[in-house]
Amino acid sequence: MTSTDQSRTDAGSERHPAGIRTFHPRRGRLSGRHLDALDRLWSDYGLMVPDPIEAPVDLSTLFGRRAPVVLEIGFGMGDATVAMAAADSGRDYLAVEVHTPGIANLLAVTERRALTNVRVARGDAVELLHCLPEAALDAVHVFFPDPWPKARHHKRRLIQPSHVELLRSRLASGGTLHCATDWSEYAQQMRQTLTDDPGLVNAFDGYAPRPAHRPVTKFERRAVAAGRPVFDLIFHRR
Ligand SMILES: C[S@@+](CC[C@H](N)C(=O)[O-])C[C@H]1O[C@@H](n2cnc3c(N)ncnc32)[C@H](O)[C@@H]1O
Repeated sequence: MTSTDQSRTDAGSERHPAGIRTFHPRRGRLSGRHLDALDRLWSDYGLMVPDPIEAPVDLSTLFGRRAPVVLEIGFGMGDATVAMAAADSGRDYLAVEVHTPGIANLLAVTERRALTNVRVARGDAVELLHCLPEAALDAVHVFFPDPWPKARHHKRRLIQPSHVELLRSRLASGGTLHCATDWSEYAQQMRQTLTDDPGLVNAFDGYAPRPAHRPVTKFERRAVAAGRPVFDLIFHRR
């Protein structure tokens, strides 16, 4: 992918006419640093979410080794991805986002930190999940997903039964689904939806204590500054 391929809208926002998207199409201008990162680094670290769905993504080819894989959905600017991948060199991190400036930022930081266990997928995570083999993932991270607070938009939430069923099918047995949100009503819905999924089991009795390994991102800092509690949910695939 080169900078001339870049739309200034989010990846995939014009596709998927039948599906209900979980993200806001956002416009964002790319800085020179970001255009440079996309031009130079995409071929080494990038994965375009296939459209239409092709053969399953071969994760060991993508990372150049066979290791447990963590999928992070909606990584924003990639702050949590970088911190977790740097502290966890035995696992590979596939991070998916639709927002192009965030994708460019994560590519740039991955190079700067010389991380070999990060790959950056551009496109809709729901489509990406369809392209991953069943039971391929060691963990899925969903940190501060868009809350879609209006009732008429709840159908856009990432954590809803059909998406959870798909997410769970891509987790290996014993694999972890870790969600965090500062939106209490969404937290309750997440907890109910995950509890109702017959293939998942809560690792804690209710919400999880905040794990030290989850880095603090802009969203958590804002929530804490505004006095909103943050809820973690950690479930395992049976
Ligand atoms: C509220 S932000 C949180 C970003 C980051 N996780 C953090 O904690 O800083 C949610 C992000 O999820 C992304 N997103 C939402 N739905 C997505 C999807 N289906 N596929 C990929 N990214 C998605 C949005 O573009 C947005 O950047």
